[in-house]
Amino acid sequence: MRSTSLLSSLSLLASFLAASHAKGSFHESLKNHDNFITADGYGPERWGCSFRDTQVHESSSGTRITIGKDSDLKPYSCGELIYQEEDLAYGHYSIDMIASNVVGHVTAFFLIANGDTEIDVELTGLNNNIAWMNIWHDNKQNPVSVDLSFDTSEDWHTYSFEWRKNYVAWFIDGELVLNRTDIPTTKPWDTNYRLVINSWTQVNPEVNIEWAGQFEYPTDGQVPQAQFRNIRYRP
Ligand SMILES: *[C@@H]1O[C@H](CO)[C@@H](O)[C@H](O)[C@H]1NC(C)=O
Repeated sequence: MRSTSLLSSLSLLASFLAASHAKGSFHESLKNHDNFITADGYGPERWGCSFRDTQVHESSSGTRITIGKDSDLKPYSCGELIYQEEDLAYGHYSIDMIASNVVGHVTAFFLIANGDTEIDVELTGLNNNIAWMNIWHDNKQNPVSVDLSFDTSEDWHTYSFEWRKNYVAWFIDGELVLNRTDIPTTKPWDTNYRLVINSWTQVNPEVNIEWAGQFEYPTDGQVPQAQFRNIRYRP
């Protein structure tokens, strides 16, 4: 009796300790941004755009991030939403997206620990029949493209990744498409991981041109946009 109760107290203690790092599941419809920070007034130099909250739009079908020409800081304005929790952990992350089909316009969903590791799903308007899965680690990118049987700009599709200690696996519409065990990731308890969606423009002819193409604002009146809904996480 004694040893049984000691064992069960130990396992209770163990699960309590594990729980202090583990997060609960969450689901964000993205119809509103109550649990997000909207980036405003900055953005990487090489992208040629600054994040502006005016480009991030709530709607009954989710979030739309548009590209504007009205930035006072850079040639274009773009958008980014950052989930409020700062120390996300291993688990399964997913989102529904409709990508932009404008060349040079990137639609992205990623987990980021600045300077440590980034786990990405990126769709570019240069080729809407592939998805890019990437891990940044030690300042090195490791992108892999996955061929798709659909056009990413035409309809909602679910893009996910499962991040574990020994691997990152990506799924599209629930089907496993890639599993990488060759790139390490910084452990969640050694840094702070945040979850981000963004939509931005590639304008520097020297960077990423073969990957995303060079952005030019459409002259036919089209406003470039990327759509996002249903961020889901489960440990
Ligand atoms: C990815 O590969 C690792 C190593 O083979 C394996 O343990 C893991 O189950 C795989 N993940 C998925 C989602 O298949």
